[in-house]
Amino acid sequence: MQKLEFPKGFLWGSATASYQIEGWIDNNDWALEARNGRVPDAGQATNHRQLYESDLHLLSELKQNAYRFSIEWARIEPEEGKFDQQAIGFYRNLIVQLKSRGITPFVTLWHFTLPEWFYKMGGFQNKKAIFYFSRYVKYVWDELAVRDPSDNKAGERAEYWMSINEPMVYVAEGYLEGTWPPFKKNIFNVSQLTKTLISSHLTLCDIKRKEFPSIKLGIAKNNCYYQANPVMKYFHNTYFLNRIASSLDFIGLNYYFPHLWPKNPHKNVSDMGWEIYPEGIYHVLKDLKRYGLPVYITENGLADADDSRREQYIKRHLLWAHRAMQEGVDLRGYFYWSLLDNFEWVHGFKERFGLVEVDYKTFARKIRPSALEYAKICEENTLTL
Ligand code: FCB
Repeated sequence: MQKLEFPKGFLWGSATASYQIEGWIDNNDWALEARNGRVPDAGQATNHRQLYESDLHLLSELKQNAYRFSIEWARIEPEEGKFDQQAIGFYRNLIVQLKSRGITPFVTLWHFTLPEWFYKMGGFQNKKAIFYFSRYVKYVWDELAVRDPSDNKAGERAEYWMSINEPMVYVAEGYLEGTWPPFKKNIFNVSQLTKTLISSHLTLCDIKRKEFPSIKLGIAKNNCYYQANPVMKYFHNTYFLNRIASSLDFIGLNYYFPHLWPKNPHKNVSDMGWEIYPEGIYHVLKDLKRYGLPVYITENGLADADDSRREQYIKRHLLWAHRAMQEGVDLRGYFYWSLLDNFEWVHGFKERFGLVEVDYKTFARKIRPSALEYAKICEENTLTL
């Protein structure tokens, strides 16, 4: 038996995103395009909006000490310039409850979905996009970001923030492949959008530096393991990070699959058809070492409806992540995607990523066996193989 210990204080958690779990969001770009029949409808999703207390209880039951969630911009700012106190209250309450359970909140400011009003004015292609985005973020931080070490509202404020979830995936799906709103396929848009997202992130860094120096600001960056394609590796993994690295407090890494060459004819795949290749996480982590920053794995997981591969998936990825750590990568945490089965974008509800199964008729939750295995790792801070 092999026992691999993780450093003291290592964060063990799971990740979610607002539109994928909350339900009852009808004023963002995805909801609009669902009404137009162009993407599946998230509808009530997992009904997390009403069941969040028991969902947070699941985190404790599963021995997790960290939780990544996102704030839905459309809820906070349903009309341009009008901010909703009740909506911010929901997220404040999440933070309060997480902290009272000893769970560290990791908050994503923007996870793919845009308010309908912003989408209709061109989203991040609008000339004033950075102004709108940073005004929203400033509002959220005023309400929910830790101020300084003596902050007496620290119990309701979060320290760890991520500006953008997977900017290159957003750009590729929405502006190159044309599969997600706004369904464009235009290489000029790709480069323009990428630059705007880089500037958006850097603008948040300036605000942080001046007004919220106590928070830790990162990004959730999807990187793949490109075994033999340095060009794709540069554009997908490196380009964006190189431009923002000096302003980051940490890197959030979302790792799912590799692009191997030659292709493996006997490859192991998830229900989504994504190749399962745990060694890939080692290579992408090692590649981040040169930035000299703390790294959190902010997403890693698989669709596995019968839960036959999840336990091994988690363990093998952690084994390789541990190796990268031993070789000098400053890895500080791991968030499995996802806590719950949820709305998987164009795939709708078919794909089952959850540690916890969701019955979409009753919204009942059921902990999967693999979740209990992950809980042992979290509790012991040790991977036993
Ligand atoms: C990532 C997304 C997340 C989820 C997983 C499966 O690319 O960040 O929202 O859909 O894939």
